[in-house]
Amino acid sequence: MNRREFLKFAAFTAANFILIPNSHTFGKEPDSMSSIHIGAKVGEIAERVLLPGDPVRAKNIAENFLTNVHQYTAIRNIFGFTGTYKGEKVSVQATGMGIPSISIYLHELIHVYGAKKLIRVGTCGGMNEKLHLRDVLIAQGSSTDSSIVKQTFGDAVNFSLLADFDLLRKAVNVAERLKLPVKVGNVICTDLFYNDYDDINGTFGDGKNTFNDKLRRHGILAVEMESAALYLTAAAENVQALAIFTVSDHLLTKEFCTAEERQSSFNDMIKIALETIIQ
Ligand code: HPA
Repeated sequence: MNRREFLKFAAFTAANFILIPNSHTFGKEPDSMSSIHIGAKVGEIAERVLLPGDPVRAKNIAENFLTNVHQYTAIRNIFGFTGTYKGEKVSVQATGMGIPSISIYLHELIHVYGAKKLIRVGTCGGMNEKLHLRDVLIAQGSSTDSSIVKQTFGDAVNFSLLADFDLLRKAVNVAERLKLPVKVGNVICTDLFYNDYDDINGTFGDGKNTFNDKLRRHGILAVEMESAALYLTAAAENVQALAIFTVSDHLLTKEFCTAEERQSSFNDMIKIALETIIQ
């Protein structure tokens, strides 16, 4: 059994035989086919899933954009909801922050629940003068300082982490139709929120250029912490994925959004994501 087969087997076995302590199943046998971290029944989650990091945002999206909403998980207070958008079944699953956390949810969504279209809706830190606070950005590509690509390909290949072109094209068309401006480009997906990449003598600085300067000169627009896992997992599992962000803070200008500002620009991103995912 290779590693991939083992991971599939592990998710399936856990789903069928382990007692899952969550709000739905605590103290009783889980329903047939469930998973460790989500714990929903198969069929409760749609093939189309929006992925915010923040559980409260997942709740807000479900309450404000979907109808016939059903909450299928609250394990660890990482909420998941299924509802209807313009007649199509759509789920909203919070992922928590960072590559390890989103990877767990991606694995279970795809292997246990059959998710096929995944759109991350998150925030990012702008790090390029081409991008401004509250802008909506679509990640065409995701570069990363994480070891996940190396764990997959060793030193042999620096695999390109790309958005699904079909979803990307649809999202750009939707944004044009809704007259909502979007930027499209490459992002850096980092494992360290509090890194020293703006320090000239920092981790990858050379005493003359900061690491972020080098990234900027290579066209990187923003920093966030989950898209690389999304694009790598989607490529490995042959499902469609896209990451859309709202710029919530800016590394160059040191500006950041208030909670209310974040919410209103966040809504533009959700509209684009929902209109894209139902096509
Ligand atoms: N860095 C990393 N991830 C982020 C940021 C940031 O500044 N803002 C939102 N997500």
